[in-house]
Amino acid sequence: MAGRIPKSFIDELLARTDIVEVIGSRVPLRKAGREWKANCPFHGEKTPSFYVSQQKQFYHCFGCGAHGTALGFLIDHDRMSFPDAVEDLANRAGLEVPREGQAETTRDRLQDDLFALTANVDQHFRDCLKESDRAKDYLKSRGLVGETAVRYHLGYAPSGWDNLVRKFGQTEAGRYALLSVGLVIEREPKPGDAQRSAGAASSAGVYDRFRDRVMFPIRDSRGRVVGFGGRVIDQGEPKYLNSPETPLFHKGRELYGLYEARQQLRNIARLLVVEGYMDVVRLAQAGIHYAVATLGTSTTPEHLNRMFRVCGDVVFCFDGDKAGRTAAWRALETALPFAKEGRQLKFLFLPEGHDPDTLVAEEGREAFEARVEHAMPLSEYLVTHLASQVELDTVDGRARLAEIARPLLGRVPEGVYRELLVDRLAREVKMPAPRLAALLGLDGGAASGGGFGGGPGSAGSGRAGGPGSGGAPGGSSAPVRRVAREAGRAGRGTLVSQAIARVVQQPRAARAVEAAEVAELRASGERGLEVLAELIESAHAEPNLLSAQLLERWRDRPAEHERLGELAAVRLPELDDAAVGRELAGAVTRLLQELGPDRRLEALIEKAGQVGLTDEEKLELRALQVRRRPGAP
Ligand code: GTP
Ligand code: MN
Repeated sequence: MAGRIPKSFIDELLARTDIVEVIGSRVPLRKAGREWKANCPFHGEKTPSFYVSQQKQFYHCFGCGAHGTALGFLIDHDRMSFPDAVEDLANRAGLEVPREGQAETTRDRLQDDLFALTANVDQHFRDCLKESDRAKDYLKSRGLVGETAVRYHLGYAPSGWDNLVRKFGQTEAGRYALLSVGLVIEREPKPGDAQRSAGAASSAGVYDRFRDRVMFPIRDSRGRVVGFGGRVIDQGEPKYLNSPETPLFHKGRELYGLYEARQQLRNIARLLVVEGYMDVVRLAQAGIHYAVATLGTSTTPEHLNRMFRVCGDVVFCFDGDKAGRTAAWRALETALPFAKEGRQLKFLFLPEGHDPDTLVAEEGREAFEARVEHAMPLSEYLVTHLASQVELDTVDGRARLAEIARPLLGRVPEGVYRELLVDRLAREVKMPAPRLAALLGLDGGAASGGGFGGGPGSAGSGRAGGPGSGGAPGGSSAPVRRVAREAGRAGRGTLVSQAIARVVQQPRAARAVEAAEVAELRASGERGLEVLAELIESAHAEPNLLSAQLLERWRDRPAEHERLGELAAVRLPELDDAAVGRELAGAVTRLLQELGPDRRLEALIEKAGQVGLTDEEKLELRALQVRRRPGAP
């Protein structure tokens, strides 16, 4: 396996690449002011809304929202893998792609060894299942047939403390490998034990993690076993035991059953997200092969990114009990930034006392799939859930509904999907949709929203505006005043988003922000401010940083990467570095000043959206909101 591509090389590559050439060789570009435009290659259109900026080395479509760097374009348009895209650009620029040296190669070899071990252990557990009537009877009692067990590589870890240690841990290296993949656990050293070399496991020093459990191997997209889940047979605690985080296994990333689904289905049109291993396996046996499970964690942005790379239709399935509903709401909050046109996000609530496993066993595939088909759209769930927390027949209640919906809607990317959400909410609060949108600051003008998830706040022209049409002539003080005024009217979310947009678009201007203030942003505990701080730090460290280089540094943090890409495309009035620097420094100072009461306000709004507020908290919320109204001192 080749070594990793050093991050510094990505910087160099982007500095030597011209995105206009890269895209221009695939799409006919026409000059439009300082930018280039074309009919968008990502969606059908008759008039161009696809813009390429040479200065930012970034493209953006105002129609469908597609955006990215030259690398991103090759990945999304030519469907290249990341390494292939790097290779392609390097060839153009006449550069050799360096690979991180010896250490990295050794790491790859070690990783291959660990995968070989997990594959062997997987086979071992499967052999043990064949030998164990107890385990086989248990699986039969759960309604599973042999074919299903084979397809999912179900296995059995027999009782005993050292089965794996004896079979795979005869050498020090073998024991260390077992420990690295979480299959054995180190014993607590007893006082008086002879001291051991650091990190190494002596033969008496480790014991098997999984004992007398039915085993579910967790496989990555290439079918390699990255970890295991083990269920007790019948009763016992804990019911499920999962591999810990290891170099191979990050539970916030893996989706149990995705590999098997791909094996079974040529084309995955929909993913059903369930809670348990047994649900995935039992559904597949019933003929529903597109179920995946997160592994004892709530859904992460990384999960969602993986899902939407597979297909555009995701249905979350939850038990009907209180825990299920809490988990569903959390999933909704995580999913909001992923809600876009062309995608479907739905929620299926099962009857109390059922999970997919028991329900599909009871009513069969067709009835279960009918439920999936009629799952509740995200918009419906969002609005009905919030509506259930207020008194809709009072003006106050409806006002409060709008207020608690605001930060949530602000997390939804600007576009048709968000407009539909606003329409839906408008019906509920009995207000014309455009008025509500304006009230919420979601009308494409000065937007408002919660934290980093806040609206893009495109000061200047709306999203249909051509290049520079919203840009006031740079240099004079009038635009500075106008921006300041607009910022003054906008909410905190907008202010954060605008500051971030400025840094992403004009990293050089970030020099105007004091290092001490950056440190304060960092320590704020507010996500948007932390992101802002990190961006400014990058800009401080490298005075000539390009927007595209800055963005590529976030590629491995998908949710932020996506949001920053959107902010890179927001049209801001064109100003020189000095003017932007002043604006930015002012915004940072204000954000820091506001930190106290605003953090409380956001916490209250979030709580209102989740579990509701006490009377006292409601009063406090009111007071804080009044204090923040424009014009208030
Ligand atoms: P069955 O009882 O076998 O049908 O399992 P289930 O999937 O219905 O169980 P449940 O709904 O309780 O749990 C859903 C998922 O949460 C499981 O598949 C596990 O991934 C995880 N889980 C459940 N119990 C535990 C536990 O005790 N510890 C850990 N770490 N994870 C658990
Ligand atoms: Mn179950």
